[in-house]
Parts: sequence; C-alpha cells; structure tokens
Amino acid sequence: MKKRFYQKLSFACILAGSLLFAACSGSVQTEKISLLPLPNQVTETGGTFVLKNNAVIGYTHPELLPAASYLSELLSTATGYQLSFKEGAGDIVLSLTPDGKEGSYALKATPQQVSITGNGYGGVISGIATLRQLLPAAIESKSVAKGTPWAIPAVTIADSPRYEWRGLMLDVSRHFYNTAEIKELLDLMSLYKMNKFHWHLTDDQGWRIEIKQYPLLTQKGAWRTFNSHDRDCIHLAQKEDNPDYEIPTDKLHIENGDTLYGGFYTQDDIRDIIQYASIRGIDIVPEVDMPGHMLAAVSNYKGLACTDNTGWGTTFSSPVCPGKDNAIEFCKNVYKEIFQLFPYKYVHIGGDEVEKTNWKKCPDCQRRMRTKGLKTEEALQAWFTHQMEEFFNANGKEMIGWDEIIEGGLSETSTVMWWRSWSKNASREATAHGNKVIYTPNSPFYLDYQQDKKSVINIYNYVPELEGMTEQQNALIMGVQGNIWCEWIPSRERMLYMTAPRMLAIAELGWSNPEQKDWEAFQTRMADQFRRLNIMDITYRIPDLEGFNETNAFIDEGTVNVTCIDPSADIRYTTDGSLPTLNSTKYEGPIQVTETTEFTFRTFRPNGKKGDIVKTRFIKSEYAPATQTAPSTPGLNAAWHNFRGNKCADIATAPLKGNYRVEDAVIPKEAQGNIGLIITGYINVPEDDIYSFALLSDDGSTLSIDKELVIDNDGPHAPKEMTGQKALRKGYHSIELRYFDSNGGTLQLKVADSKGQHLDPTHLYMH
Ligand code: ACM
Ligand code: ZN
Repeated sequence: MKKRFYQKLSFACILAGSLLFAACSGSVQTEKISLLPLPNQVTETGGTFVLKNNAVIGYTHPELLPAASYLSELLSTATGYQLSFKEGAGDIVLSLTPDGKEGSYALKATPQQVSITGNGYGGVISGIATLRQLLPAAIESKSVAKGTPWAIPAVTIADSPRYEWRGLMLDVSRHFYNTAEIKELLDLMSLYKMNKFHWHLTDDQGWRIEIKQYPLLTQKGAWRTFNSHDRDCIHLAQKEDNPDYEIPTDKLHIENGDTLYGGFYTQDDIRDIIQYASIRGIDIVPEVDMPGHMLAAVSNYKGLACTDNTGWGTTFSSPVCPGKDNAIEFCKNVYKEIFQLFPYKYVHIGGDEVEKTNWKKCPDCQRRMRTKGLKTEEALQAWFTHQMEEFFNANGKEMIGWDEIIEGGLSETSTVMWWRSWSKNASREATAHGNKVIYTPNSPFYLDYQQDKKSVINIYNYVPELEGMTEQQNALIMGVQGNIWCEWIPSRERMLYMTAPRMLAIAELGWSNPEQKDWEAFQTRMADQFRRLNIMDITYRIPDLEGFNETNAFIDEGTVNVTCIDPSADIRYTTDGSLPTLNSTKYEGPIQVTETTEFTFRTFRPNGKKGDIVKTRFIKSEYAPATQTAPSTPGLNAAWHNFRGNKCADIATAPLKGNYRVEDAVIPKEAQGNIGLIITGYINVPEDDIYSFALLSDDGSTLSIDKELVIDNDGPHAPKEMTGQKALRKGYHSIELRYFDSNGGTLQLKVADSKGQHLDPTHLYMH
C-alpha cells in the first residue's frame, strides 16, 4: 500500500513538472526551495523530511518552551495534526548554541529529523521562519488543508543576519489599529525574520496608550471627530473606487451626538502584545513622541504647553513647554509607566519636527535658557532631551530619537534614527560622535509614500552606508527599518497593501549577505511569496503591470503585451474609460491595436479584491518631421528660475536666476534651493523610429518633444519615473524639459530606440 502511494506521487511529479514548480526529492513531492530573506548558505542533501501526525517537537533549554509551543501552533492548524512539545528529543528539535553571531541559526533537515540550533532565542525563531517557508505555502492556511504532503527537502542551512536591527514602525496615532491587527503584522514580520517593532503610540492626532496617572490622555486624547486626513480618506475611497480607504466602522462610537473615531490600548492589551511579540522573537520599542507632536496630550492637560491656547503653529503643533517643571514632571511620569510596561531596553522619545515659535515667546522657556546658559531654542530642545535621557538611563533604559536630537548637542548614550534623507550629515555626525544609528531615510523607507515600479528595487539596492564613513563608523549602523506613517492609511487592508511587498525588500536588506545580491532572483523569490501571502489574506500590493509606457506610439499596428510578476494577479481592462470590474474583459495575451486606444487596466486578487488601476494610451502616429535647423553646440540650455511653486507650467513666471549649459538633461550644479528649470534644445535621432523616453524626477517634471507633451510627471512627489514614446523622423527635434524642487532633488532622462538601444547625451544640442 505504502509503496504504491509513493509511486503515485512520483508520477504526479513528473506530470506536473515545473508547472507546479514542484521538485521530486526522494519520493515525496516538495516545493522548490524559495526562501526570503535569502539565507547565507543552503545545501540540499537528498531525500525529504515528512511531517507526520503526532510528531514531537523537542527542545533542549527551558527558555525555548515558548518557541516550541509557537512552532507546534504554526504547524498544527493547516495540517490538522496533533503535535506535542516537550524538553528533550523529538522529530523536530530546537536548541541553543553560543557559536556564531547573535541571531544566527543552523537548520539541518534529514529524512529522520529537523534540528534548529540558534544563537539566542531570536536565532531559533529565525530558524522556525525558515522551516515555515520550506513547507508548502498551504501551511499558512487558517483551516486544515487536505491533500498537501507536509514535506520539506533534506537540507543544511547556515544563516546569520547582516544587521541586528530589522524593523518596522507603525503609526497608530493617525489611525488606530486594534490588537488583532497588530498581532497579524507581528506574525508577518516574524515570517520574514524582522525583529524590531517600533510602535509610534502617540502623536497630535491621537494618544493610544493607557497611562494610569493621566486618564484623560486616552479618555479624550484617543478620540476625535473626523479631521482633514479622515476626510481625505473618505474622498479617496470614492475617487479611487477603493473601500480600503474607508474609515473602519468598528473604530467609531457616538458620544453626545458626536461621531468619535479612534481607540486605545489598555495596559493589559499592551502586555498581551508584548508577550505575543516576544514569543515571535520581536522586541517592541515604544515611542511617546515629545516635546513636539504631542497635541493629544497638551490639549487635554492644562499647563503642559507654553500657553493654554494649543493648536497648530506655522508648520507643526504646540510642543510641551520645557520651561515648566511640572511639564517635565508630566513627561517623566508618562515614561515611568512606559518603562514599567515595556521590557526592551530601548525606548524612543521621538524628538522630531518641533515648532519652536512658542518657545521664543514664552517667559518660562526664555528663563530656562538664561539659567541653563542655552543660546538657541535648539539647545533648549537638547536640554529637554538630555533631562529625559538621564531619566531613561536611571531607569535602565536607552534612548532612541529621530535625527533632530543631534541638533543642539547630541549626548553620549542616545541612538539616532536617521529619517531625513536630505540631512545626510546626521548619520556621519552621529557615528563620528560614537553614537549608534538606525537607517530609515524617508526615501525609500517611508512606507506611506505611494508605490511605483521602483519602490521595491530602491529598497533592495539601498546601501546602508555613506561615503566618507570609516569602518568604525559603519560598525555603528545597527540596521534598517521601514516606517508606516498612517495619515492616509485608515484600514488594515490599506496598511498591509502599503507594507508588502516593500517589507520583503527591507527584510532581505537587513538580513542577507550583500555579496549575494541578485535583483532578478529576488524578484522570483518575492513572487513565490505571493502564494503564501494570498493564503494568509495579506493584502499586499500586486507589483506594477509591465510592458508599456504611459503613452505609446505605433505606426500602422501596435501590440499591447502586458506582464506581471505576480502569477496570481487577475488582469482586466476596458477601452471606454470606465473602471474595470470583475466582469470586464480578462487580459489573456497580447492585443493588436490599429487605432489610437486608451486602455484602463486593473488587477484583481484571487479573492476578487480590487487592485491598482493603470491607464495607458496607444497612439496611432505618423513620424514627426525633423526641424530644418541644424544646431551645432552640444548640450542643452538650462534656465534656472527662483521657483517655489508646485506646477511645471508656472516655472517661467518666477524670476530667472541664470542660464547654464548642461551636457545632459540634469540639474546644473549651480542651481540650489528653490529650483525651477526650463531645459531646452534639440535631440538628434539617428533613424526614423519610435523612441522611448523615461523621465525620473523628485519633484515634478514634464517633457515635450516638438512642442507635444510626451511625459507628464508633474506635481510635488518623491523620486518617480514616468515613460512615454514618440515616432520621430531621422534628424533634429526640439525638446523642452521642465523640472522643479526645493530641497535637493533628482532629475534624469533616458532615451532609447525601438530596439532598446540607449541614446547617449551626445545626441543633445542647443543653439
Ligand atoms: C518623522 O517622519 N517626522 C520622523
Ligand atoms: Zn514655554
């Protein structure tokens, strides 16, 4: 009987071949090994380990009991098996070793046994994540998945993390996430070996943690009537036909006729989540942001801000008044409860974006500055931070702060979380001073930023080191973190959509050996994860459809050939401008077009849930004639205007600062600060052909060829590339590129012919 069963499986294997991307290892079908983050070393040793009913999970040290219990829970739901765990031997054995780097592990699977040996509890948990990914994706099912062979290939894996800090931050102030939603995110983190959960618990828009001494913080501060972000979300839900932008009704309640929105965690909730995270090898770093971003506190307790007239200043909200002793006492009392609740040594003070106008006018603040010999308001913030830091240290805690804590004097013991990409010196300065740094520069680590085809690769290829830093300085970089700021993320679905798959790239960047980087291979492994994520009901963003530009040109007949790396994406489209639904035409292969056609594509998840909408125009064209002029000076003319607006069309109205010759479509090095550029000249194309243009900019840009708009990448935004095409006769064609930015910025234009050959800047001319 048994033999026949195995033979049958082998036969199925041959038939299915790579279609199911299954491998026949020994005689039981296993899925091909596809692990993310990529382990340092994987060696298949032949044969399979089959998980059986009544299997025993053994562990060698009592502190591994929670890991064994967690693993047994992970493995029993989908299999329906009864699994037990006990100290001692087992079919799967968890053990500890002092060898290797902290957090490293070795996994050895033979046909008889799986052993996971970790350096520390975290190492064992990372080994469990690998075991979970070696098993068929169906192991993630929330109910018994029948007919799946619960087998893994025999394998030896040696693995260790690149960085100790592989974090995710969630802002629960701008929108609240309940304990079940937090636990789901922690589960997802642990699947990808992410080990630090930075919990942004308080901000202007909501105070989310019960503080026993100050009950109004949550009684009042956790609830609000709809604010402008909420109204934006409601508007976006309608405009983008996307229910994930709707305000979740379970977080609303009516009080005295007002609809209030919000929620908070009791201290019991917090303890429950800390324990849940700790079992999964995740440390929780609480952040109570101060002295700014604290409106939910200072507007509910009098005497904390400089005046009782709290609200919004020029840029940010009224901060705490560091001139008042009772305000400092309040901050310490809040942190006292935080210290008692959270066991992890690191606690985050925030410290970002403090509006100091009130401090300049406040007699208490000014008195404090005089008595302490502080010359600037930045020094006053540093004084406040140092007061708090002493208090942290006296309570056995280490402080983390956003990179603003450098200004006015960084202390010895603080760890800096670098977020302002434009302030590169923050990382250099902090490490030169001997302080540790966590990398979370807003571009590309802010997960509230809209995604495009570059957002995952930009994280994947990020180098978390800076030029000019010594080896000693680089050794102070603790790791990387993605930040999920939630102003415009009201729901669990939207949150997971913004987080995945970018978090997979963060996980890999933080864990894997950079010498093994291979973007193509990563993409394949990422696509393999989508099956698992679909089973887990993680509403990840389906990667961009590819194979077309925003505008495409064809002469007689064009081909629309759409691809997506996610095999589970259901692609539908319309050509009448309406939004595609599940009843719209399904895209099943290349489409021929003979007339100008505007396509609207939309992806749908396997469960029918709507994904992104993309529009693309296929324009029936004639070759645009070349100009009669034959300009002879290489390069382009860049006119720099002192521009502070946010639309390319307005640049010419701003005063001209100067004209510069540039060799390519780039920002002239003289242009700094408020930049509005109008770059003009000619492009000399070598053949009659359809040319593709790719325009990358931060902020907005537009490209016109022969006075026709080919790319509209306008408006304020983070680095974003848009592409367009135009059919051109051999010869010179006029080109006008507009661009603006006010703090740094990026501009790049790439041109290619229909065979994909790039045209270099020697094809650019000016009068
Ligand atoms: C931040 O983004 N204000 C840290
Ligand atoms: Zn004050």
